[in-house]
Amino acid sequence: ETKIKKIDKNKIDQNIIEEAGKLLRDGCLVAFPTETVYGLGADALQEEAARKTYEAKGRPSDNPLIVHIADYEDLRKIAVNIPAETDILASHFWPGPLTMIFEKSDIVPYGTTGGLDTVAVRMPVDPIAQALIRAAGGFVSAPSANTSGRPSPTTAEHVREDLDGRIDMILDGGTVDIGLESTILDMTVSPPMILRPGAITSEMFEEVIGPVSVDETLLGDESDKAPKAPGMKYRHYAPKAKLMIVEGDIREEILAIRQLAYAAHREGKKVGIIATNETVPFYKYGTVKNVGTRENEKTIAHGLYRVLREFDDEDVEEIYSESFAAQGIGKAIMNRLEKAAGHLRIPASAVVKQQKYR
Ligand code: TXA
Ligand code: MG
Repeated sequence: ETKIKKIDKNKIDQNIIEEAGKLLRDGCLVAFPTETVYGLGADALQEEAARKTYEAKGRPSDNPLIVHIADYEDLRKIAVNIPAETDILASHFWPGPLTMIFEKSDIVPYGTTGGLDTVAVRMPVDPIAQALIRAAGGFVSAPSANTSGRPSPTTAEHVREDLDGRIDMILDGGTVDIGLESTILDMTVSPPMILRPGAITSEMFEEVIGPVSVDETLLGDESDKAPKAPGMKYRHYAPKAKLMIVEGDIREEILAIRQLAYAAHREGKKVGIIATNETVPFYKYGTVKNVGTRENEKTIAHGLYRVLREFDDEDVEEIYSESFAAQGIGKAIMNRLEKAAGHLRIPASAVVKQQKYR
């Protein structure tokens, strides 16, 4: 049975943290909030705990886990050959939504790294996460706390939906801040390479250490190469419905989605639309969801996984989404949206043109 404990990040109940930390030290599983998404915590130095993590999530065991730390000195215990730029990156972005990959030290079991000689490390800023990591002994592996293939959880309720009965405890610290997973930066290559886009962007890295590279498999769907972060190859975040991204300028997108939703409605299909504050009023047919405001892309990052989960609950068959500018956190938004859509894209202009000549 899964215990659920509410905890306030502004007034942390140390008794709850102690209880959760003890569970982790004993090799049990505890889900907890971070600023990005909820994580499924286990003791990163116990091989058996990693095995349980994979089992609870239904995740392939070649997909490595991120090790979370709370104190920068601890990095040196789990990573070796740490490159010089690490200090300055850490001083800017840790604690925060950045994961860095290094060569692993001997104390990190291969169960945690999915058999790799490298280890992914993150220092979250969420105070509940930090307190839990310390109470657990300093090294907590945590994939996103969803069943493999579902959108990452941004609330404790999402975690409960997926993992109730499969893990020992959920710390409910309310809704997360960011809503998309951390940026992953591979520090074992020079210059460092972004393997997964997130709230810390390539422009932000560039200001601190100069240009970084980007895993080419992230840039388009044409590439048949395997992405460098093993987890990026899976069709994660996949909603039950067929999700299609409509692309064009926003006026054309609205016209096209109106047309597509009407056509689907006429065929008797249950259709959903991912819209924004600014565009919601333009749609008549289908279940329309407001993911956030175009004035602030952070609100869209924050709402995306919630909206995808809501559509799952409502048994929608087809979802049409507007697209978003791939700048700043917009890159991470479009990366997750494209993965959820299995890269299905519809050019808005083609739909609108067809309509004109009918
Ligand atoms: O924001 C986050 O990073 C969240 C919170 C809980 O911290 N965690 C998270 O973990 O998103 P997960 O397991 O869902 O995603 C980890 C990603 C996977 O794509 C995995 O393949 C990649 O990190 N990864 C982990 N270790 C790696 C390594 N040594 N080399 C390359 N990729 C690695
Ligand atoms: Mg995940």
